[in-house]
Amino acid sequence: MLEVQNLSAHYGAIQALHGVSLTVEEGKFVSLIGANGAGKSTLLKAISGVISASSGQVSFMGEDIGRLSPVKIVRLGLCQVPEGRQLFAHLAVRDNLMLGAYIPGRGEPKSEIMRRIDQVHAIFPVLERRTKQIAGTLSGGEQQMLAIGRALMSKPKLLLLDEPSMGLAPLFVREIFRVFKQINQDQGTTILLVEQNARAALQLADHGYVLETGRMVLEGPGQSLLKNEDVQKAYLGG
Ligand SMILES: Nc1ncnc2c1ncn2[C@@H]1O[C@H](COP(=O)(O)OP(=O)(O)O)[C@@H](O)[C@H]1O
Ligand SMILES: [Mg+2]
Repeated sequence: MLEVQNLSAHYGAIQALHGVSLTVEEGKFVSLIGANGAGKSTLLKAISGVISASSGQVSFMGEDIGRLSPVKIVRLGLCQVPEGRQLFAHLAVRDNLMLGAYIPGRGEPKSEIMRRIDQVHAIFPVLERRTKQIAGTLSGGEQQMLAIGRALMSKPKLLLLDEPSMGLAPLFVREIFRVFKQINQDQGTTILLVEQNARAALQLADHGYVLETGRMVLEGPGQSLLKNEDVQKAYLGG
């Protein structure tokens, strides 16, 4: 479904990605782990078109998306929940969700969008209870749920999640990880999850990747990465 080949990216003279390759098959749950500064966000941004890579290929559902605008990429069914959530802080919860469904050029019937709001409310009941609350006044965990709900409103085939557990209390972390598994299994949404919380991310994953200073150093089934000695030493504190 997603094929990244030999991707490099620069910020000015600094090279953040060095020929990175990664594959995500349809329906799978893939986790990418790596330390702070490894290049995880850069990779997700290059996939979703927020920044342009200096070389390499990105294809999604067989289409080369390397030169497409972010809007066109979202329209194809690839949606990113960015690091730090980036909600419309001054708008109500419901308005944030509605804006997630607004994809220029898609033109969906309102009934379809209302049906999706109901689905998101079923996944995160707190968003229904707080439908009129201004997003910026939600707790950190609620904001993350809203960011995920907003992404689901775009009806993604592939959901990219950039460190969704960052700054959240353990209870919230467990809750959102449970939801990711549910979205993947019940709705068939393919997931590429980027995390520093390596144990939780690999436990959920069909397949995992390890990024170190801009290079992909390891990949394999989630369970086998959990047992890998190098992974344990570097990322699992063991
Ligand atoms: N806008 C930017 N300008 C210059 N350097 C950047 C910028 N964004 C990220 N970098 C650098 O690129 C590298 C990878 O960053 P990033 O992709 O954010 O890593 P991660 O998400 O894994 O923490 C880091 O060395 C970081 O300092
Ligand atoms: Mg990051």
